[in-house]
Order: sequence, then C-alpha cells, then structure tokens
Amino acid sequence: MNQINVGIIGCGSITKNRHAPEYQENPNVKEIVFYDRNPERAQALAETFNGRVAETIEDLLDDPSISAISDCSSNENHPINTTKALRKGKHVLCEKPLATSLEEAEKMVEIQHNSGKKLMVAHNQRFDAPHQKAKEIIHNEELGKVLTFKTSFGHKGPEHWGYNKTNSTWFFKKDRSVSGVVGDLGIHKIDLIHYLLDDEITDGHSFKGALDKVDENGEPIEVCDNLVCALKTKKGRIGTASFSWTYYGKQDNSTTIYCEKGIIKIYPEKDVPLAIETPDGEVQKPELPHHPNSGVIDSFVDSVIQDTEPFITGEDALASLKVVDMLLE
Ligand SMILES: NC(=O)c1ccc[n+]([C@@H]2O[C@H](COP(=O)([O-])OP(=O)(O)OC[C@H]3O[C@@H](n4cnc5c(N)ncnc54)[C@H](O)[C@@H]3O)[C@@H](O)[C@H]2O)c1
Repeated sequence: MNQINVGIIGCGSITKNRHAPEYQENPNVKEIVFYDRNPERAQALAETFNGRVAETIEDLLDDPSISAISDCSSNENHPINTTKALRKGKHVLCEKPLATSLEEAEKMVEIQHNSGKKLMVAHNQRFDAPHQKAKEIIHNEELGKVLTFKTSFGHKGPEHWGYNKTNSTWFFKKDRSVSGVVGDLGIHKIDLIHYLLDDEITDGHSFKGALDKVDENGEPIEVCDNLVCALKTKKGRIGTASFSWTYYGKQDNSTTIYCEKGIIKIYPEKDVPLAIETPDGEVQKPELPHHPNSGVIDSFVDSVIQDTEPFITGEDALASLKVVDMLLE
C-alpha cells in the first residue's frame, strides 16, 4: 500500500488546524474525504484542502477507496463513530478523549481487537520535541531516577478555540464533553506522564470546580473548568497536576520532572522549550529538532502503511481515561 485515501468525521477546529493540513502534506495520502453533520463545514474544508465531501456517514464508511478515518467529532460521539468505522473495516485515528466512560472505552478496545484494524488515539503531546528529548533523558537515566513531577496545562478556554466560539459550546455541556477540562486538557498530561515515566498513575486526590465559566444563560457550566490534584504512580513516584480553562493570559503547557541528579524543565517559559538544571546550578538548554507539524497524523499514516502498531494505542488511552475517571469521582 503506497498511498491511502482518508476520511474525516467532524469538520471543526481540530480538523481545520491539524488533521486536514497534515494529511494534505503527507505524501502517502492521496485524497481526503470530509463528512460533518453540518454539511457546509465539510464543503468548506473540502474546498480549502482540495478534497471531496461525503453526504452521509454511510457514504463515507462504505467507500471502499477509504482505508483510514480520523474521528474528530465531539467527545460523546467518539464511541459511536469510531466503533462504526472499525466495524466497517477502517483504521481509525480517534481524537482524545477516546470515550466519555470507561465501559465505552473498554468496548472500543475490544471491538478494535476483533476488527484486526488499527486504533490510534491523538495524544499528540508525546511527539513534541522537548517531550521526546525528556523521554530520552529519563529512559537513559542521565539524571538518575525520577522522584517527583509537576505538570500543568491551561489556557483561556475552549470557547476561544472550537467552531462555536460562544459560551453555548458543547465543551461546556455535561452530556457532550462529560469530563470538562480534565478530558480536554488534563488527559494530555496524564498520557504524557505515563509515557515519560514509563509508569501509570494509580492513585490521586483532587479538588475541582466550575470557578468562572458560565453558559449561554449565565449559569455556571455543568463541567469543571479547573482541577488540581496530587498523584501517585505504580512505581511510587508522586506529583501534582493542574488543568485549567481559566488561565487568562499565555497558555501554561509546562512539566517539571525532578530526578536524583537534576531537574528537567519543559516549557518553563513560552520561549524556552527545555532547560536541564543540575545541582551545581548549571542550566543547559539543548538544541531541539524543529517539527513542522504535530507528528500525530504522520505517525498514524505510517502505522497504516507499514502495518505496525500505532504509537498510542487504545489501551494507552484507556489507561489515561481511568485516571480521568478517578479524579472526577
Ligand atoms: N488533540 C488535541 O490537541 C485536540 C485539540 C482540540 C480538540 N481535540 C478534540 O477533537 C474533537 C473535536 O474538537 P474540535 O475542537 O474540532 O470541536 P469543534 O466543535 O470545533 O468541531 C467538532 C465538529 O464535529 C462535528 N460533529 C460532531 N458530532 C458529529 C457526528 N456525530 N457526525 C458528524 N459530525 C459531527 C460538529 O458538527 C463540528 O463541526 C474533540 O473530541 C476534542 O476533544 C483535540
């Protein structure tokens, strides 16, 4: 298989900003077929990215020329759309969170195994250059073993990002987003900690709230806009995390890993992707490769074409979702 056709379900912001442009640039992708239940959104992206439109989801999934699907619909629809696509024999790249409940996610992983098709979940933070470098340093124990960590992901909120840029956005609705800022931003850092530390968060204590966001009726939103927590991993590391939709300035995407012989600081400031501090006070800022895109689309296409296991599996996503569930309980 040299070139593939891909279908995209959901033509909102993540498709416009990531999936469509990165598929378009990938030399192994021949054609992109767009589907959205709001057909004008599919039409607009088909024009911008030189693709075509499927009028129904059946048209998309029954098209034998399409071998892979990106599920970029809203959270509550991932279990429906991704499952349908796997059952129709398509490989799927599903946006995070994989599902809105553990039961659904477990079922999706089971269906993927039975289908023999690939399921990758878009926990794209793993591909980021400073995260890749931190992974290498930790894996090689260049600073000894990891002892503790702290991580944070926050920005001014999804009403500044999604297709619907008002406070009636689905991101604020309990039945559609379900997990609020935790499934939106927190899950990225949960997956990142699992990946960097080659470990799994097994215990956590959290405080959460809808502190500032209001819906279209001026009522506090139904999901949390902030969560802070203390975490413990299977291998006994302890750390803290904060996830927020109310950081009304520059986004905070920082992670600090405290090791026996020094500290790895990832995005300590916006213009500093990585700083390594040692006990003598020395600070190194390693040169990092420039990545023109997120890496997640290219990795998915490679796994389909080369028939290799996806870099982020359904099981990985399930492990992160378990932590989300625990923190929200
Ligand atoms: N990996 C990341 O960094 C990242 C960033 C942003 C969003 N996301 C995820 O991507 C997904 C989409 O987010 P977004 O920001 O693009 O939202 P959005 O609201 O901008 O777009 C969602 C689109 O999906 C369409 N849609 C919803 N359900 C559908 C269905 N059943 N069939 C067809 N179309 C459907 C909507 O009409 C809309 O056009 C979410 O799950 C979100 O969590 C991931």
